[in-house]
Amino acid sequence: MKKILFVASEAVPFIKTGGLADVVGSLPKCFDKEYFDVRVMIPKYLCIKEEWRSQMTYVNHFYMDYLGQSRYVGILQYVYEGITFYFIDNESYFCGPKPYGDWYFDLEKFSFFCQAALSALPVIGFQPDVVHCHDWQTGLIPVYLKDRFRGGEFFCNMKSVITIHNLKFQGVWDVKTIQRFSGLPDYYFTPDKLEAYKDGNMLKGGIVYADAITTVSNTYAEEIKLPFYGEGLDGLMRARSGSLRGIVNGIDYDEFNPETDKYITQQYNAKNFRKEKVKNKKSLQEELGLPVDEKKFVVGIVSRLTDQKGFDLIQCVMDEMCTDDMQLVILGTGDEKYENMFRHYDWKYHDRVSANIYYSEPMSHKIYAGCDAFLMPSLFEPCGLSQLMALRYGTVPIVRETGGLKDTVQPYNEYESTGTGFSFANYNAHEMLGSLQYAKYIYYNKKREWNKIIDRAMATDYSWNTSAMKYQELYDWLIG
Ligand code: ADP
Ligand code: GLC
Repeated sequence: MKKILFVASEAVPFIKTGGLADVVGSLPKCFDKEYFDVRVMIPKYLCIKEEWRSQMTYVNHFYMDYLGQSRYVGILQYVYEGITFYFIDNESYFCGPKPYGDWYFDLEKFSFFCQAALSALPVIGFQPDVVHCHDWQTGLIPVYLKDRFRGGEFFCNMKSVITIHNLKFQGVWDVKTIQRFSGLPDYYFTPDKLEAYKDGNMLKGGIVYADAITTVSNTYAEEIKLPFYGEGLDGLMRARSGSLRGIVNGIDYDEFNPETDKYITQQYNAKNFRKEKVKNKKSLQEELGLPVDEKKFVVGIVSRLTDQKGFDLIQCVMDEMCTDDMQLVILGTGDEKYENMFRHYDWKYHDRVSANIYYSEPMSHKIYAGCDAFLMPSLFEPCGLSQLMALRYGTVPIVRETGGLKDTVQPYNEYESTGTGFSFANYNAHEMLGSLQYAKYIYYNKKREWNKIIDRAMATDYSWNTSAMKYQELYDWLIG
């Protein structure tokens, strides 16, 4: 049995701020259980809902020296859908209403988490062959495995993988601070190791020291070798390209299944969507106070409201977009400027725009099911899960051709009758508008064609099957 430990800062169903949680929570279930024992470790945040916290059981605790003090490290456990989740407890670090907040404190918090996570392994008696790290919050782990945790039998053969879900966030502060939090010697703070542009960089540590690096789509794996997408680390990505591969994300096909989804008004499938899907549109319109009109072209957005997601393009052409032959439904939270922009347009075009500035799992499902099209014009997108959810629900994605969006949405070709969505290449508001208008034209004027796009969208398979195999191959290769 090969033992794998996922270490990350979030995982569904316990705590989620974005797609990282979906991946860390759903991928472990999809490995071959005969050969792989995959477990997950995340912090025990105070903001994890009580319904989950109350079900965790105490495993053990110990004290660890960190920043000159002896600190409590509690270990809790919960087996969810056959997967063992471990939770690292320390109330002074994992407090607050959200997993992340203050940049500076987050660096201290996750440096602590990296050290506590590795120190906890001998205590619980789980000795993974591979520690699979995710994003900057766990970037110090591959470094520690080559450094202070190297000696002794327990850790000496442990391999590490780091998956980059978003290169934009790297865990950066001045060298002195990162050195203090990480407790690593001077040796590590040179430009070929944890130093980048004179600062300390935790993700860079992970990328330099991990035995393998993955990112969440093939296109993003190529893009990050270029200055535009490389966030200052494109040189390093080129240098490490031999150890870097793209493995596209999947989604949980049980959780996101229009045939069994309990959040939606009318369940449907690839055979009966022509008749049934529209019932979800009507109840969505009703619930959100939009005019109920089953013929109207309804476009949905479910997203963190940040620059990454292309909202400045939308802002640019919002007036042109909001014609009376369409409705736009937004669900998201994030940058105030975008929250307020959507609130403004909701006020201005109340019969066409519905801005829902909050986080809601049920509402997201209703939007994936009830809309005709799903808009995601990202500036960059390592993978993107929302468009995969839209495909699964037969809601036609309109995307910019970048990262995982390019790899998962095949553009409609009306002459060959192929494609699962609509896309545009340049980061340009009118190009986006052009795609949206083209989609709307097909929807209103070539309904049979539109339905065939849905047929093809719903026939795609972005469950974890194929990608979990690729991770298994990677683990096999690493373990040898
Ligand atoms: P990212 O991780 O960059 O935010 P992804 O597309 O990979 O983007 O994943 C986003 C995930 O978060 C999806 O599961 C999406 O449904 C969910 N999500 C984003 N905003 C909200 C919201 N306001 N309410 C409910 N779910 C949301
Ligand atoms: C990040 C990326 C997103 C990706 C997700 C899961 O949040 O922004 O594109 O789908 O991680 O890998």
